[in-house]
Amino acid sequence: MLNGLSGLVGWHPWVYPALAVLHLIGLGALFGGLLVLDLRMLGRAAVLDPSALARLAVPAALAGFTLCLLTGVLMFAAHADEVWASWAFRVKLGLIVLAGLNALWFHRRGALRRQDGLAGWQSLFSLTLWIAVIACGRWIGVA
Ligand code: HEM
Repeated sequence: MLNGLSGLVGWHPWVYPALAVLHLIGLGALFGGLLVLDLRMLGRAAVLDPSALARLAVPAALAGFTLCLLTGVLMFAAHADEVWASWAFRVKLGLIVLAGLNALWFHRRGALRRQDGLAGWQSLFSLTLWIAVIACGRWIGVA
C-alpha cells in the first residue's frame, strides 16, 4: 500500500512539491476556519451569531483537514522511514488526535450555543494545539 503510494509520488519530481502546496492550502483553510470561530468563542465580534459563523467556518476547516490528511499520507508514503524517525512527526500526529478529541467534545456538549467559560478555554486550547501541529510540521525535516 505505502509502496504503491510512494510510486505515485515518485512519478514526477513535481508531485511532491505540488502535494506540499496542497498541504499548505489545506492548513490555511483548516486554521483560518478555526481561527475565526475560536476568536468568536473568545468574545471577539460579538455581533456575529456563533452558529451562523460555524456554518461557514466548520465546513472550511473540515475540507482543509481532509486535504491535509490526504496530501500528508501521500508525502509520508514517499519517505516513510525517514519521516517516522522524526519525533516532531510523531508528536504532530498525537496533537492532531488530541485536537480532534477536543473538537468532538466541544460540539458534543453544544458549546456553540452555551458560550460558557469552558467553551472559551476549549477554543484557546484548540488554537494552541493547532499552532503546535503547524510548528511540528515545520520541524519534521529538522528533528
Ligand atoms: C491535519 C492537519 C495538518 C497540519 C496543520 C499539517 C501541517 C504541516 C506543516 C505546516 C508542514 C510543513 C510544510 C512545509 O514546511 O512546507 C507539514 C509537513 C508535512 N506533513 Fe503535515 N499537517 C497536517 C496533517 C498531516 C498528516 C495527517 C500527515 C501524515 C499522515 C502529515 C504529513 C506531513 C509530511 C510528510 C510533511 C512533510 C515533511 C517534510 O518533507 O519535511 N501531515 N505539515
